[in-house]
Amino acid sequence: MSDSEWRTHNPAGSRRVVVTKQLPGARWLQILTQADCEVAVCASTEILSAEEIGAAIGDRCAGAIGQLTEPWGEALFATLKAAGGRAYSNYAVGYNNVDVEVASKHGICVGNTPGVLTETTAEMAVALTFAAARRVAEADVFMRGGEYRGWLPKLFLGERLTGRTVGVIGAGRIGAAYARMMVEGLKMDLIYFDPYPNQALEEFIAAYSVFLQGRGEGPVSCRRTDSVEEVLQTADVVSLHPALDETTHHLMNAQRFSLMKENAILVNASRGPVVDEAALVEHCRQHPDFRVGLDVFEDEPEMKPGLAELANVVIVPHIASATSWTREGMAILAASNVAAVLSGFAAWGENQEVEPFLGDDPPKAAPSIVNAEAVGMARYSG
Ligand code: DGY
Repeated sequence: MSDSEWRTHNPAGSRRVVVTKQLPGARWLQILTQADCEVAVCASTEILSAEEIGAAIGDRCAGAIGQLTEPWGEALFATLKAAGGRAYSNYAVGYNNVDVEVASKHGICVGNTPGVLTETTAEMAVALTFAAARRVAEADVFMRGGEYRGWLPKLFLGERLTGRTVGVIGAGRIGAAYARMMVEGLKMDLIYFDPYPNQALEEFIAAYSVFLQGRGEGPVSCRRTDSVEEVLQTADVVSLHPALDETTHHLMNAQRFSLMKENAILVNASRGPVVDEAALVEHCRQHPDFRVGLDVFEDEPEMKPGLAELANVVIVPHIASATSWTREGMAILAASNVAAVLSGFAAWGENQEVEPFLGDDPPKAAPSIVNAEAVGMARYSG
């Protein structure tokens, strides 16, 4: 990476912040420059190595905003610390690429960008569900290939989802938003696996069911189970929304695929390694009516051999959060995390809504610091 691929904004700023990719919108840069930061932004779209990022940090760097494609571990946090760094924010809600323990050891605050991706990511999971169920990508290729000779009774038969059962694995913010969209939109029953009950989701579905019955329609149900297997055996559609860690790596494997219905739909917009992708390829080969929608891949940007050739799999390049509103919101939150730490502000409440940071009069706080307690950062109290 040549020096010419880095652009410096506000060179007079007293605190140097490194941003490893250009971010959408203008507000994020204002937030940093108003916090007296000189901002070095990498203009290249290449994925940077730890060495390249380390070189950009150099010997003077107060904070950094990095990407989920970068290995933020001992090497980078030690370099950042030695350069005088105190703040890092991932430009993502997920932070499996960040060794938070190591960052805490170096006294570096780690931020992420929750809240602004919730509906956007859930919408993509819904889009993949429909695309898989109704064979949209296959049919598109067929049309473009000039193969359409006229309407036929059995052309591209797919799955009707209304009134069937949707399964969700991981009912946090995004999983719950997906569940609501599917239940509310398609009157599906929900079965979900999560170590913790999602009370708000359960209450919403119970109230929706009462509403439907008041209109003379059938009820919808919602049930949490302690068993991933039960979700897989019961549901017609399963969407994966867990955080990636050692407990969820290859959560979906050959044995678990075999429990699913022959014509089930599986969607993954969480993290690729949650699925054993080689086993998925094999399962899809053996079960042509099993359909899959994938936003994420085990070894991004690669795909396991055979995946791209499967007609029963719809694939998109990790774009579930890719709307302008969301990506600009993520940039604002990441910049606010770094600017707030460098300004000595407290951390916003854990799991508290982050909307106030998107307005004109944001709180003097860091919107989301995942290791606030470990680095001794106070919580915002107004
Ligand atoms: C995230 O934020 O974790 C998504 O995967 C990318 O937006």
